Amino acid sequence: MTPFKKPFIAGNWKMHNGPLAARDFFGRFLTAYAASPDRTIVFFPPAISFGAAQGAVAGRPDVELGVQNIHWEEKGAFTGEISAKLGHDAGAAFALVGHSERRALFGETNEDTARKTRAALAAGLTPILCVGESLEEREAGNAGAVVETQLAAVLDGLDADTAAKLVVAYEPVWAIGTGRTASPADAEELHVRIRAILIDRFGADVGGATPILYGGSVKPDNAAGLLAAREVDGLLVGGASLDPEGFAQVCAATG
Ligand code: 13P
Repeated sequence: MTPFKKPFIAGNWKMHNGPLAARDFFGRFLTAYAASPDRTIVFFPPAISFGAAQGAVAGRPDVELGVQNIHWEEKGAFTGEISAKLGHDAGAAFALVGHSERRALFGETNEDTARKTRAALAAGLTPILCVGESLEEREAGNAGAVVETQLAAVLDGLDADTAAKLVVAYEPVWAIGTGRTASPADAEELHVRIRAILIDRFGADVGGATPILYGGSVKPDNAAGLLAAREVDGLLVGGASLDPEGFAQVCAATG
């Protein structure tokens, strides 16, 4: 974590917490986590619970909301999908794009991720672009190359002004939902590489300022260690963001 940067902590609920559970969660989370101007907190509830989450955080402008997935078209006959514009109209500020579960389970390609990123930016949503290698790719020594290819597919279409609105999340697939967290040193190695790519493409002002989050089995007891690693500007948390008190601890962690 670079000292002047504001930690960015995000909770991705995935397919958990309907509207009632979302209200219950925030009743407890907002009691356990006191508003703090020195960090950004964002939740990604399932779309069906977005309104309930919004109502529950209404008195807490320090807590922002995003959507877990968007379609790249603005509107149309796409049953089951939501567009970036619909997310924005509903009050979302962020959208996850390129999450490894979307890539692995729903067949999303780098090109799909690039289109979604452009759609999010055009609609005024901040995309959180997720990249990360599988265990097989890591063991073959290809982690850096895989991440670089995933990034290039999206960054190729962006100029520096647009890229200034991007957030990147490094989520190694082998660490997601497995309880096997990347060590701070593992995370640092890839974060430093991602930072170099961003600076190389967009210059130090933009590339140096893009928040780079780490995700994969983050828990209250490893959050501070990860945040202390170089170029780790925040955390993208799955399972541990479902526990209000535990996630409050993650949100308050300092690196
Ligand atoms: P876990 O924290 O459950 O490993 O999930 C990480 C993740 O995929 C966040 O988007």
